[in-house]
Amino acid sequence: MWDNKTIEWLDIELTSFCNIECPGCFRQVKRKIVNDILNKDNLSLKDLKTWITKEKFPNLKLINFCGSIDEPTLHPEILQIVEHFHSMYDINIATNGSTKTEKFWTKLGSYGISIYFGIDGTDQKSLEKYRIGSSYKKIQTNYRSFIAAGGHATWQYIVFEYNEHLLEEAKKISVEEGFKNFRTIYSHRTGNKESKTKKRDEEQEIVCKYGEQKRIFLSHTGALLPCCFLNSEFLQVYSGGGAETSFTKKYKELDEVLSNNLKYNSPSEVIDGELFKFVVDSWKSKPIERCWHTCKKAKQDVFIHEELK
Ligand SMILES: C[S@@+](CC[C@H](N)C(=O)[O-])C[C@H]1O[C@@H](n2cnc3c(N)ncnc32)[C@H](O)[C@@H]1O
Ligand code: SF4
Ligand code: SF4
Repeated sequence: MWDNKTIEWLDIELTSFCNIECPGCFRQVKRKIVNDILNKDNLSLKDLKTWITKEKFPNLKLINFCGSIDEPTLHPEILQIVEHFHSMYDINIATNGSTKTEKFWTKLGSYGISIYFGIDGTDQKSLEKYRIGSSYKKIQTNYRSFIAAGGHATWQYIVFEYNEHLLEEAKKISVEEGFKNFRTIYSHRTGNKESKTKKRDEEQEIVCKYGEQKRIFLSHTGALLPCCFLNSEFLQVYSGGGAETSFTKKYKELDEVLSNNLKYNSPSEVIDGELFKFVVDSWKSKPIERCWHTCKKAKQDVFIHEELK
């Protein structure tokens, strides 16, 4: 399923830092378990330069800076990281947009990269219902600087019951402001009053979302994992807690950090290793819990215009 020579799309969780508190985010939902690892570590540019090369990922086309717990623009070396990779790969960053300065966003825009701004409202009141701690004014200044400098901006809108009526208004603003795309997410996550209007089709078999997309996930710890969904389970074990699943059990059974981390292994060693094999093999008889829930019943978030390319 995965092969370092065929991987085209790499998701990277650059950091464990974030500046705001979205109630449905893994950071908040699992706060009690993962609190100790939040706002602590960053992947270094030095390591990224060693781990992600044309030799190690010969077919890589896209790097998407988006993880389970990160606000990528808070990484202290983010400009240098983009500077290093943008001539080799397409770059996308997912951000809450409420960070840093106009100067910073102008510089990011000058690289001509793509950014998904998570703006789930059309003013401060509607925005901060979910993006708690975020500033609509600051986001506005930032996306304007980014777009004016040549950046390719996408407005990403998570549809909740409380903001559904603002969807058309948000689309209109996005066009007026020069966004190139508008992307809608109908989320399955619980604990928030999310929209119920979008129906999902039931799939009968496991269709591995990441495998199909020739995509893989790098956690901020250096762990190379099949996908962001399993990163959520991994981070709980890494924090020393969380309910045991067959994936985390297997992870513990193997030599944990040592066997799937790019600090100690090449990408092909991890991908051809036991943990990845265990996940893929499980689909034939008894799929591991996360695969079953996420990719069998199509309970994953429904992304409209999902292709990043
Ligand atoms: C953990 S965030 C990391 C990137 C960045 N901090 C951000 O919020 O865009 C990863 C992705 O999850 C999305 N997200 C946040 N809350 C969500 C929810 N309740 N349902 C679906 N996606 C959500 C974010 O918008 C982002 O695209
Ligand atoms: S901005 Fe992103 S990382 Fe931060 S809390 Fe919200 S969803 Fe999570
Ligand atoms: S949850 Fe399982 S099936 Fe789904 S993308 Fe991840 S590894 Fe693939």
